[in-house]
Amino acid sequence: MRRIAVMTSGGDAPGMNAAIRAVVRTANAKNIEVYGIRRGYTGLLAGDFERLTNREVSGILQRGGTILQTARNEEFKTERGQKRGLRRLNEQGIDGLVVIGGDGSLQGALALHQEDFPVVGVPGSIDNDIWGTNMSIGTDTALNTLLDAIDKLRDTASSHERAFLLEAMGRNCGYLALMSGILGGAEVVSTPEKPIELEEIAQALDDAYTRGKSHAIAVIAEGAKHRIHEVASYLEKHPCGFEVRVTILGHVQRGGSPSAFDRLLATRLGVHAVDELVAGNGGVMVGLNGRDIVPVQLEEVISQRRMIHESYFEMADVLSR
Ligand code: ADP
Ligand code: F6P
Repeated sequence: MRRIAVMTSGGDAPGMNAAIRAVVRTANAKNIEVYGIRRGYTGLLAGDFERLTNREVSGILQRGGTILQTARNEEFKTERGQKRGLRRLNEQGIDGLVVIGGDGSLQGALALHQEDFPVVGVPGSIDNDIWGTNMSIGTDTALNTLLDAIDKLRDTASSHERAFLLEAMGRNCGYLALMSGILGGAEVVSTPEKPIELEEIAQALDDAYTRGKSHAIAVIAEGAKHRIHEVASYLEKHPCGFEVRVTILGHVQRGGSPSAFDRLLATRLGVHAVDELVAGNGGVMVGLNGRDIVPVQLEEVISQRRMIHESYFEMADVLSR
């Protein structure tokens, strides 16, 4: 392995820069040249490569987003696009590739592996929906952003005796909603995994009011059966005691400096990704399993979806009363 490339793809996540830095410095220490591919698969198809030395990745550890930028690219989903991507890698003399991204990006990585190109995936997504790793890069930081919001909302909510509906990102995964609900002390959480009806959300808020609470928080996942505005209009027609306000943080949840946890996870995953490439172990994603970073076959990662442990749903229910 003389020359490798690294890219970030799909939704950005805090900690991606820490992973890029770890890849570059680990490879350079082994006398392997590293090229960064700008804007994910879009840059790959355009041949947009830049040499990354240790200097280029200095001062990025604490920065959110990704210095390589990221993109979503439809063409790469086709066989023709994948063949073109492979050609670009070969033209640049690249011997191995590290793809940092979510489940979609890892499907792209698998496609390259199936073309016999050595590729290692690194799970980067705030959603935490990737099979084969306990946590993905960026999830912890996003969760802390949500918790900060809930803590602040509770201050104003209790001053005015209001209920706040807060939307949490996560696409079809309720991890961020459920965890922020448990850790922020929400009265009710609505997730895609456990659909709850509008009446139940209203009832939970009403119960909190009846118990004499000065505030209530409902966390609604963006992928929940009833989206946040639907919940708000229902509560307008069926008052729950509290005056209701809606907060949507949106992409604020994807930005910001990575937490200590995300920096450590990203750094460890970046180091191990290079080690797997050097060991000739392409076609895997590196993931966190207990205390260890372990390789998981990309086929396995892609064919399954990480599920939230059942006990967290029970915990949220019991602790919200
Ligand atoms: P994420 O990686 O955050 O899940 P996306 O699902 O949007 O984000 O995927 C990012 C990119 O990965 C897509 O725009 C596309 O270029 C590539 N990709 C997604 N699915 C596939 C697939 N089935 N085959 C090849 N490439 C894919
Ligand atoms: O996958 C990360 C994520 O932030 C999801 O939580 C969200 O549904 C989606 O990306 C938003 O995508 P976009 O940045 O294209 O609006």
